[in-house]
This record gives sequence, C-alpha cells and structure tokens, in this order.
Amino acid sequence: MVEEPKSAPDLAEAPVLRRVSAELSIVVPCYKERPNVRPMVERIGAALPGVEWEVIFVDDNSPDGTADEARALGRINPRVRCIKRIGRRGLSTAVIEGALSSSADFVAVMDGDLQHDQTILPAMLAQLRANQADVVIGSRHVDGGSSDGLSSAMRHRISNAGISVAQYFLPMRITDPMSGFFMMPRSRFETIAPRLSGQGFKILLDLILSAPEPQQLRVKEIPCQFHRREAGESKLDALVMIQFASLLLDKGLRGYVPMRFVAFGLVGTLGMIVNLAALWAGESVGLTFVAAEIIATIIAMLFNFQLNNRLTYRTHRLRGPRLIRGLILFMLVCGLGAIANVGIATALFSSGSHNGFAAAAIGAAIGVVWNYAVSSTLVWRT
Ligand code: GDD
Ligand code: MN
Repeated sequence: MVEEPKSAPDLAEAPVLRRVSAELSIVVPCYKERPNVRPMVERIGAALPGVEWEVIFVDDNSPDGTADEARALGRINPRVRCIKRIGRRGLSTAVIEGALSSSADFVAVMDGDLQHDQTILPAMLAQLRANQADVVIGSRHVDGGSSDGLSSAMRHRISNAGISVAQYFLPMRITDPMSGFFMMPRSRFETIAPRLSGQGFKILLDLILSAPEPQQLRVKEIPCQFHRREAGESKLDALVMIQFASLLLDKGLRGYVPMRFVAFGLVGTLGMIVNLAALWAGESVGLTFVAAEIIATIIAMLFNFQLNNRLTYRTHRLRGPRLIRGLILFMLVCGLGAIANVGIATALFSSGSHNGFAAAAIGAAIGVVWNYAVSSTLVWRT
C-alpha cells in the first residue's frame, strides 16, 4: 500500500525551540590570531563555569584564516560566534560592531591573543550583577596587576606616556585607561555607541570620554596580569598612535569642531607652505612675481586637492572622471574663497581700525570656512 504523502508541518504547531541566550557576550577583536582562537575559547570556558557566556570573534578578513577557525569551532560549540568584516580594519570599530550584535545583559571586551587574564572574568561579572559599577576594567596598574607582558622597555615607556596623556582628559582617576580589557552592561554600551569616535585601539577611553555624563560613570578596576604574547604579533604601529592623538583631539574639542574640519585646516596650512616654497622657487628662476604667484597657487591647489582627497575625505575618495570634475570644482571653490578672503580683509582694513593683521585673520577664517563648507557639500558630497 502506498503511504499518503505527508504535508509540511504547520508552523504554528511546530514545537518552539528554546534557545538560552547568553548573559555575557565576550567580544574579541582579532586580526591574524588563528592559533589563539581555540585556546582562548577553552580558557574562557574554564574560567566561567555556570555562566551563560558566548564569545564573538570580530575578524577583519585575516589572511591566516582566523575567521574560518572561529567558524569551525562555532559549528561544534554554539557559544562561539564570528563576525567577519571585509574591506575594513580597526580594533575599535570591530569591538563596536561585535558589541552591537549582542543581545546579552553584559558585554566584555578582551584581546584575542591570550594577553588578558581570563580568570578575573567572574569577579568583573559579579560587580555588574550586583550593580556596583557601570564599567569594570582589568587594570595592570592597581595592586596585584602587572604589565610584565609588554614586549620591551620601549613599549612600557610608550604605554606609560599614553596613560598620563589619557588621564589628563579623564574626569575621574583611572590607573589604566589604556586597558583593552573591560566589561559593562550592554544597554550602557548602546547608549554611548552613537557618540563614539571609533578611532584606533582605545575603545575603553573612547567609551568613557563619549559617555553623556562621564563624571557620573561608576568605574571599578580589578587587578589584571598582562601576559606575554605567545603566538602572532602586536598590531600597534605608528598609525595607531596617530589615531590615539586624533581620538583625544576629537574628544578634547568635545565634538564642537568636526575632525574633518581640523584635517582640512591642517592640509590648508601645509598648502600655504607649498605655495610659499613654489613662489620662492619661481622667483629664483627669474619668473615675474605675478607669473610665479599664479603657478605657485595652482601647485598648492593641486597639492591640497590630492591630500584632501586621500586624507580629509578618504571615505568619500574621488576617482576616475569624478576626480577631474571634483578638481575643477575645488579650484573654482578655492578661487572664490580667495577672492572673498582678500575682499573681506581689504574692506575691513579700509573701513575700520586699520589693524591689518586682524583684518587678514578674519578674511582667512571666513575663506577657510567657505572652502570647507562647499568642499564638503559639493566636491566630496559627504
Ligand atoms: N578586528 C581587528 N581589526 N582586530 C584587531 C585589529 C584590527 O584592525 N588590530 C588589532 N586587533 C586585535 C588583535 O588581533 C588583538 O586580538 C587585539 O586586537 C589587540 O591587538 P594587539 O596588536 O595585540 O595590541 P597590543 O597587545 O599591542 O595592545 C593591546 O593591549 C593593550 C593592553 O591591554 C590593545 O588591546 C590595547 O588597547 C591595550 O591597551
Ligand atoms: Mn596584544
């Protein structure tokens, strides 16, 4: 006898699969950490008996297959998740995206190279469960902590200098604001997230400085041993240090002045130097002042355009035909800016106090704001 084909089960009657969601998500930014992934998961598991934890590896498409390793583990262990980003790099943004993908009560952030001591995780969690703190930091500089794992005396010096600079910006005393190991309620992270700068390595510092009322954050530090790296290598380089400076600058200016404007101003200042150098070179090969000044101005504009395209507006970089169109527009904008600059300065000088310097400064400031506003909206269309 032929069996009746069974129809697909009605979804409404299908048994509901219960999934126990994690209480704690451990976000691990990683780049080229393949050999460290498996030991990391084992150590976290051993450190957190009885806790519903999960680990979220956020990998920026490492060439060594870090993400493949995390995913392979995830297939046999549902506590292991992986986010793979393509075409992006950056510790802080990796942490932000990992934490925002969590639905746990608490998020921890931990390096993926086994340098942070996982055995303090339960003590950190206990503080948050008891609502004793808004941020708990694994600190190398309170009694019982150590930073012996830093690879050289030079790294110690850089780290200590960074801490002193960071402390200057902080509204409260934190002995290790440069730590990359901390835990906080996810809801708190989410409130701060839209204000984060996301630059570089210092996501903890970024979080504290970006909090709506930083002085009201309850920060606890728990001693932590910073271990030596066993496999792979550090990704801290000169670029990361520049990003640290730019994070502090951004937060120091309290977001009143956009970082892009600061970059635009810096490029403009360099452009002035190029302009003067070209003028001097032109005159010294026998050009008339007017001819040398015209050539020097064009060189400076080309220089500014290139640098702005690669630095200030690197996220909106123009290429191909749009590059030519952008360059022509930029030259027109700056030309008008220069006319406005000179016009305003002359008018102020002849009508008012005859303070030449003040007139020139006001003219230049209006010129820069004009150039910036029109470049942002028309040339690079941010
Ligand atoms: N996804 C992603 N993208 N991860 C990254 C990137 C990146 O561009 N750069 C670094 N990481 C990961 C590394 O793979 C590692 O897991 C972690 O971020 C820390 O990077 P390291 O290169 O090992 O940094 P470090 O040891 O010099 O400094 C770290 O430790 C200090 C002490 O706690 C950083 O976390 C510092 O912020 C921290 O202060
Ligand atoms: Mn490290």
